Amino acid sequence: MRILVVGGAGYVGSTSVETFIEAGHTVTVYDNLSTGHRDSVVRGARLVVGGMHDRARLERVMREHRIEAVLHCAAKSLVSESMTDPGLYYRHNVAAGIALLEAMRATRVTRIVFSSTAAVYGEPKRVPIAEADRTQPINPYGESKLAFEGAMRWFAAAHGFRAISLRYFNCAGATERNGEDHDPETHLIPIVLRVAAGEQTHVQIFGQDYNTPDGTCIRDFIHVRDLAAAHLLALEATGEADPSFEVYNLGSAAGFSVREVIEAARKVTGRAIPARVVKRRAGDPPRLVASSRRARRDLGWSPRHSTLEQMLADAWAWRLSHAAGYGRRKRRPAARAAAERELERVSAADREADQEIELDTVAIPVGVGSR
Ligand code: UFG
Repeated sequence: MRILVVGGAGYVGSTSVETFIEAGHTVTVYDNLSTGHRDSVVRGARLVVGGMHDRARLERVMREHRIEAVLHCAAKSLVSESMTDPGLYYRHNVAAGIALLEAMRATRVTRIVFSSTAAVYGEPKRVPIAEADRTQPINPYGESKLAFEGAMRWFAAAHGFRAISLRYFNCAGATERNGEDHDPETHLIPIVLRVAAGEQTHVQIFGQDYNTPDGTCIRDFIHVRDLAAAHLLALEATGEADPSFEVYNLGSAAGFSVREVIEAARKVTGRAIPARVVKRRAGDPPRLVASSRRARRDLGWSPRHSTLEQMLADAWAWRLSHAAGYGRRKRRPAARAAAERELERVSAADREADQEIELDTVAIPVGVGSR
């Protein structure tokens, strides 16, 4: 298959590209490199640097490379940023997304897989969440992804698109080559590993008063390799003749609490990983776990690498071999010292601002989550 991966230089996109190339497909990556990394594009894939709103350019690329199917992984994806700048999310995730669909329509490319999010469900009434459950996003990020799903559905009905949306929760782990390198970083596992690596003094636990066994939030984590495999299976499934729009949840069906993640990371890395409990972060549902029954049944997908230990071990190995992420491996000593001073300053301000913090380096038993 000749596949265009929009957002193919990002964390999920680049790992998917690796998988497609290994499976013998021809891949063109289209990415504006705003958060993606040139170095993450594997040999054998072509990189075109461009913005998704640029419909004419997308059309040229689709024609020139005779694209047959599209994987769309390009999105703004920070929940808190979406709350303060919703316009940004509607521009990127909806308006630019429509330019992509229109470019596909103009070039008669009708197969698309969309990397969506479980944020479309908002605060679920029950877990594990099934695809037919109510969608009611509680932030512009989730709302913008849902709006794009709606557009896909109507393009399927009106223009014969074969479209699949994959909704997933928390993604972790790495391949030998590609891993998670965001700036700023807001996700739990990379932050925990930064602390393990001594780049940050401690991890903040956002709330310990949730109605869960250990009081911290429970999340469904899935290995980025398993996600890449699901993307490939979904792309293959769009080869069916009939127009369609399908939604699949992807998850490991196991939830882990924030404390379980930190404790498992202490074991995997052999480092202390100090943690402090601070107040809740706005908009965090207590428990998010997916039912992937449908994906298993229809796509033949099953997660193979998604144990917590495996995800942490792979992410840690990648971090050790890419000390400062992509392309910044030789950070100058002066810059490093400045970064450390900044961390110390932030952490001191933190201590002052939050009276309830508690230093926690004590081992917590694993196994209190929902597995
Ligand atoms: N957390 C901490 N400390 C941190 C970072 C996170 O305690 O420093 C906690 C959060 O409060 C949350 C859990 O760890 O309970 C996971 O948080 P992440 O920020 O890593 O991930 P989210 O669950 O918030 O976000 C994920 C995806 C989003 C998606 C969302 C659906 O990354 O794309 O699930 O709710 F929108």
